[in-house]
Amino acid sequence: MKKVRLSESSQTDMAIDIFKAFDRRAFIQSMVAIGGLATFGANWPASAQQARKIIIDADPGQDDAIAILVALASPELSVLGITCVAGNAPLALTQKNARMVCELAGRPDILVFAGADRPLKRPLVTAGHLHGHTGLDGYTLPDPTMPLQSQPAVEFIIETLRREPVGTVTIAALGPLTNIATALQRAPDIAGRIEEIVMMGGAYFEVGNITPTAEFNVYVDPDAAQVVFASGIKLTVVPLDVTHQVLATAARAQAMRNLPGKVGIVAASWVDFFERFDKEKYGADGAPIHDPCVIGYLLRPDLFSGRLVNVEIETVSELTVGMTVTDWWRVTRRVPNATFLRYVNAQGLFDLIIERLGRL
Ligand code: BDR
Ligand code: CA
Repeated sequence: MKKVRLSESSQTDMAIDIFKAFDRRAFIQSMVAIGGLATFGANWPASAQQARKIIIDADPGQDDAIAILVALASPELSVLGITCVAGNAPLALTQKNARMVCELAGRPDILVFAGADRPLKRPLVTAGHLHGHTGLDGYTLPDPTMPLQSQPAVEFIIETLRREPVGTVTIAALGPLTNIATALQRAPDIAGRIEEIVMMGGAYFEVGNITPTAEFNVYVDPDAAQVVFASGIKLTVVPLDVTHQVLATAARAQAMRNLPGKVGIVAASWVDFFERFDKEKYGADGAPIHDPCVIGYLLRPDLFSGRLVNVEIETVSELTVGMTVTDWWRVTRRVPNATFLRYVNAQGLFDLIIERLGRL
């Protein structure tokens, strides 16, 4: 494969141009980084392929909720189930929120499971300061009437991966990785059956959002993250470096609000709610919309670029616990274990999110 050297200042558009010179399908399949910076994928027409089977593991959370809505609105994806984890809010709230979101999408048929109510080895840290007391403040939805599945989330993950053909189920991880790590520890055979894990978490250039050196999802359960990053599973990381480019500006929030129907108004209200905190924190034009980037990547990998690198998780140091120690510059000989995304075509992604929300 042709090698191309790109400078760090290269932006997505440039990477996309270069990418067009390659056989896109072969490129995705091999996930090979070209000269360090690569942009991925192809949005093949949904009709030309089967819907990609995904399990969404989440801790809703307003941005998780928007991600779930976008996934449920997308025929390219088949959501086998939503497994909930404690994170943004305690488990009792995240599993309830997931069901409210499914009902908002008109999908009470979706299977929702409760998973871990705390990290593998540490006390739970939540993010009520950002997401509010319910985890989903900003718009009051009716209490869900659809059931919570009685099967524990981890059992569902294991059973599903053992049932489905090898390499046909992807996990979209939007919260702390406790459920996924527990499943891998309990049933190591499933590692070889997972098509890919695409996760929101970590940071290199943006460093941290919950501590100076850690992103929230990894910080909450670094031990679980360590299990996942060491698993050998094809792993794509959507870090703060990407999500901090995807800002819900006033114009974009208004575009949501302008959608016909309730979903756009609810999503815009959620964005308004968590913006009040993030705008002040980052002094930015709008709050970052983290978790929908994962679903956006599954739908349009060509909007993103990144590098295949080694990432290790700090689990010991009091000062830097939860840090994703990313060998972006390849200064070690550690074996690459993750495709770490760096750039995104933010407007392209927002157009996609809004178009999909408009389908509900
Ligand atoms: C991540 O933490 C949560 O607050 C969001 O839902 C997102 O998954 C961002 O650091
Ligand atoms: Ca989340």
